[in-house]
Formats: sequence, C-alpha cells, structure tokens
Amino acid sequence: MIHRPRILRASASIRKMVQETILQPQHLIAPLFIVEGENVEEDIPSLPGYYRRSLDKTLEEVFQLYELGIRSVLLFIKCPDSKKDNEGTEALREDGLMQTAIRAIRKQMPGMLIMTDVALDPYSSYGHDGIVKEQEIINDETIAILAKMAVSHAAAGAHFVAPSDMMDGRIAAIRHSLETAGYQNTGIMGYSAKYASCFYGPFRDALDSAPGFGDKKTYQMDPANRLEAVKEVLLDVNEGADIVMVKPALSYLDIIREVKNATHIPVSAYHVSGEYAMIKAAAQKGWLNEDQAIMETTVSIKRAGADLIATYFAKDIVRLINNA
Ligand code: PBG
Repeated sequence: MIHRPRILRASASIRKMVQETILQPQHLIAPLFIVEGENVEEDIPSLPGYYRRSLDKTLEEVFQLYELGIRSVLLFIKCPDSKKDNEGTEALREDGLMQTAIRAIRKQMPGMLIMTDVALDPYSSYGHDGIVKEQEIINDETIAILAKMAVSHAAAGAHFVAPSDMMDGRIAAIRHSLETAGYQNTGIMGYSAKYASCFYGPFRDALDSAPGFGDKKTYQMDPANRLEAVKEVLLDVNEGADIVMVKPALSYLDIIREVKNATHIPVSAYHVSGEYAMIKAAAQKGWLNEDQAIMETTVSIKRAGADLIATYFAKDIVRLINNA
C-alpha cells in the first residue's frame, strides 16, 4: 500500500497537527436580547439556557464574554407592545434602550465590538421588517427609516450596524446616510442572504416579534434558491457592505461556501435560534451529546466558509475549545 490516510489520524497529537478548521473565540459573535428594567434575567422557554436581560445584567454578561475572548456582541431589543407602531418610532429615539445600551457597553468595555440589529420588526405593531400599507411591506419608505436607525446607532457608538430586514437597496441607503452624517468609520454587516426560515421561531418568541399577518416571503429568500443568494450578496458588496451574512447556517452550508467563493470580504453565518433549540431539545432528551453536537455543527459552519459565526452557543464553544 502506498497511501495510508490513517497515519494522519493515529493519535490526538497528529489529528490536531493536521486539523484544517480551527475555531477561535474572536470569530464568534454573541447575540444578546435586552429588555427594559433592572436586575431582569428572563428565561426564554424555546431557547433554554438563554436569557433576556436588562441593561445592568447585560453588562455583566458582556464582561464575561470579553473575559472568554469573545470580541463582538450583536444587540437586539425587546420592545414593549405599548411602544410599537408601524414606523418603529421607538427605535429612533436617542435615549432609546438600544442607544443607551450601546453607549454603556462602549464606555465600560471599549475593546468589545458592538454590532446592532437594524430592523423594524421588534418595534413594529405588525411584526414585519418594513412599513405596512394595505398588507404590503413598502420597500423605499422602510429603507429611509433603516438608514436613520443606523445613524442613531452609529451616533451612540456602534462599530457595525447589521441590517436584517432584506429590503432592496438598504445597504446603499445606510452607507450614504452614515457618510453624510459623519460616521465614515461605522461598518455594515449585511444580512445579505437571509432566507424565509422556520428556524427563527424561538427568536420571535424571545422578542415577541412574530409577524401579525402573513409571512416574510416577499422579502426573505426562498430556501430553494442558490443563485439568488449570490446575487443578493454581490449587490450588498457593491452597495458598500463590509461583511456579508448568510442566515440560517446549517441548512445553508452550501450557500455559505458559494458566498465565500464569490466574495473577497469576510463572510459571517448566523447559527439561528431554531438551530440552537434543536440541539438543546435533543440533548435534554438524552438523544445527543450536547457538547459534541455544538462543536461538530459549529466546525461545519466554519469549514463551509464562514469567517465569523453568530451563535447562542458562543460561551459553550469557548469552554469546549479551552478544554480540548
Ligand atoms: C429580524 C431578525 C430575525 C432574526 C434576526 N433578526 C427573525 C426574523 O427575520 O423573523 C432571527 C435570529 C434567530 O432566529 O436566531 N429582523
């Protein structure tokens, strides 16, 4: 025999030496759900082990993430129903919860990169990512609001704004508004290839943001499409995105690879709430080994081509990297 591939698998040391894909804490993005109040840490039933926290508790969590070597957080706000409307007015307030949270994290942990969700749905009385008129999601009026939202996050100190809405032309609108307002150094991470997925269910529970009518298929992508993902990504690159994202991750590993090959900028993938919940549920039943499932799935996302991974398992992953 000339070729014995098992030589390179013979011991843990050899396997480690030839390992192709390596996960590191600084490649993880930790999503955080922030609620009003103080000393709040609420369970999210469909996201076991994950919480909605008030700002004081969020700051403690951000500190822990930093200690672990995680260098970026992605902020989401849960807005009370009483403050929701069709235009997402609450999202634009200078003293809104998002803006306050950005300033507080920036001040207390200057080394932590702050990424912010730019979208209407958590603030929308209809639970949609755009302004609604006669049951339709209106594109161009929506992107004007998203651009304002992005500028208000940049003004508060966000390092990256992350539009997750899938309206047409929003990256260009945001880039233009950031430039005009004097925030030339604020980055844009576009949710570029975002699919209309059932795997967002637990997230919508967490933020109480499920669409009040219909679904999101007129703006989020059809899971059956691959070429369209490349089109969306290239448009966002041309419009000025610094990082492009594919979302969800596991059912879209082929898309991640396609996007990685088609671009020359960092690619991120969002290992979304439902993907987290599936592993948690199977582990709770004793059907899967949770730690092994976490590492295998996360490595597969990196191997597919994701430079960055937004994941609810960020802390577990660092623990597992450190124990390996
Ligand atoms: C909404 C948004 C969603 C997620 C991130 N931003 C849900 C949706 O589009 O309905 C999902 C994240 C997750 O499931 O973890 N703008």
